[in-house]
Amino acid sequence: MSSITLIGTGNMARTIGTRAVAGGNTVEVMGRDQSKAEALATALGGGATTGKWGAVPAGDIVIAALLYDGVVPVVTEYADALAGKVIVDISNPFNATFDGLAHSEETSIAQEVAKVAPAGASVVKAFNTIFRDVLEKGRPNVFIAGDSAQAKAGVAAFIESLGLRPLDVGGLKMAHWLEGVGVVTVGLAANGVGHWDFALGVDELAG
Ligand SMILES: NC(=O)c1ccc[n+]([C@@H]2O[C@H](COP(=O)([O-])OP(=O)(O)OC[C@H]3O[C@@H](n4cnc5c(N)ncnc54)[C@H](OP(=O)(O)O)[C@@H]3O)[C@@H](O)[C@H]2O)c1
Repeated sequence: MSSITLIGTGNMARTIGTRAVAGGNTVEVMGRDQSKAEALATALGGGATTGKWGAVPAGDIVIAALLYDGVVPVVTEYADALAGKVIVDISNPFNATFDGLAHSEETSIAQEVAKVAPAGASVVKAFNTIFRDVLEKGRPNVFIAGDSAQAKAGVAAFIESLGLRPLDVGGLKMAHWLEGVGVVTVGLAANGVGHWDFALGVDELAG
């Protein structure tokens, strides 16, 4: 089982935290509003604890469950408190019309996080291609990307503990394309699929 810290107290923190507790993982919650962190930890149960904002997280895996424009500033603020940690970026940096990315075509939030992360930290992109309701109720494939095989193995084990299937798409530069998959998913919800109750996955043909 894994030891995780959720930075953020919103919808995705609650959903990942709920599945993490159900999967027998150790969960800590940190929020810029301590009362929200305490309320979420209490709601999660399973011995979930809170940590002080900016302190060294208890978890080996630190999930930044923040709006995309807060991820790099918060990792910068935490600075050496994240040394040696596996930082998981789940964000979708949508543009204003949800049909493109908010940043240039050369990068991703996860790659920008890697630039400010302290020594020994690793960054993994994960969970961004799954709508929260699907993550709550379903068994979607979870695409992950990162440069450290060891960090990805740890995140994959955590994902498996949630009863979900991790699928490695490659190095951290693939995080850009996973963010693009997030855009595609919203496009499908608004057009061809017509609702939000689905997830993209991989079907392998036998033989
Ligand atoms: N919801 C989905 O279906 C879904 C699916 C896949 C990925 N994602 C991604 O998951 C991330 C979280 O989404 P969500 O739905 O959980 O959003 P949310 O419910 O709005 O929660 C956002 C959290 O981020 C915190 N936050 C935002 N900016 C911050 C900053 N500058 N410094 C510190 N804390 C900050 C908020 O704190 P306060 O409460 O104090 O404001 C809140 O705890 C987003 O990047 C989103 O793109 C969402």
